[in-house]
Amino acid sequence: MSSNFQVDLTSIGLKINYLYEVLATTYALKNNKIVPNTAAMGIRLLENNTIKIWSFPNTTTYKNLDSTKLIILNFVDNIFLYAIASLKGNFMFSSIETVTEQHYNLYPFNVKNEHKAIFKGIKRGNSIHLPYLNQAWAIISCVATNKNQTVKTDILGKVELVELSLSVIFCEKFKESFKLYNRAENLTLETIVLATKLYVAKEKKDKTLFNKIKDKIEENVNEVLRFGKNESALKAIEYVKNYVSSLMT
Ligand SMILES: Cc1cc2nc3c(=O)[nH]c(=O)nc-3n(C[C@H](O)[C@H](O)[C@H](O)COP(=O)(O)O)c2cc1C
Repeated sequence: MSSNFQVDLTSIGLKINYLYEVLATTYALKNNKIVPNTAAMGIRLLENNTIKIWSFPNTTTYKNLDSTKLIILNFVDNIFLYAIASLKGNFMFSSIETVTEQHYNLYPFNVKNEHKAIFKGIKRGNSIHLPYLNQAWAIISCVATNKNQTVKTDILGKVELVELSLSVIFCEKFKESFKLYNRAENLTLETIVLATKLYVAKEKKDKTLFNKIKDKIEENVNEVLRFGKNESALKAIEYVKNYVSSLMT
């Protein structure tokens, strides 16, 4: 494990100014117990081991991060996990798989003096156990140091986001991953993003936008099915299809 604020993130292949899609685990404290939550988020690595993340203020990720300041960025190969971590809301059908306790491991971390304030409330003695995804091939633990309101324009129109600066506490690589997402996986990732936007369009009761996003999702779904053969992508696409159906009721 490399720790402290001099962590070398290039050791896990991160490049400065590139955007990466990760699964971000944050947590709430309920009765002194850590309750983890995970969702897909985009991150960008800047100089000095600062990482930027842009979060919608209504997400649990943002609310947890604003309250406890800690975040674990999980690097995961399995696209299906992105679907189950990100597609939330009124998703009610019986065989639904979500991210549950069984998806997490606890990472033991010895708290140094300079980090004591960060881990106040969850520290037992000198150590803490941070939840992370057991499928992660690498994790980066960070603390939020700064936030700014910002506005971005996308398919939903003008959306307000909070830009958070994260300082790296430690980074751990569990195994090598030379995974480059293939076309089916990339398109699946885009389709999961669109499905999260479909949920927002439904909440906004914007039927035109809803149908526009739904049509785009259907187009992508057919493309991924045409590429075929990628098990994780196909499973994720099936999940997206069920999610879209659940939003149409
Ligand atoms: C690949 C991918 C990237 C995403 N990036 C972001 C992001 O940068 N910021 C954000 O607020 N939501 C992002 N989302 C959408 C969230 O994952 C989604 O809204 C999720 O339901 C939030 O969950 P939470 O309320 O548990 O935090 C992304 C989704 C996907 C699939």
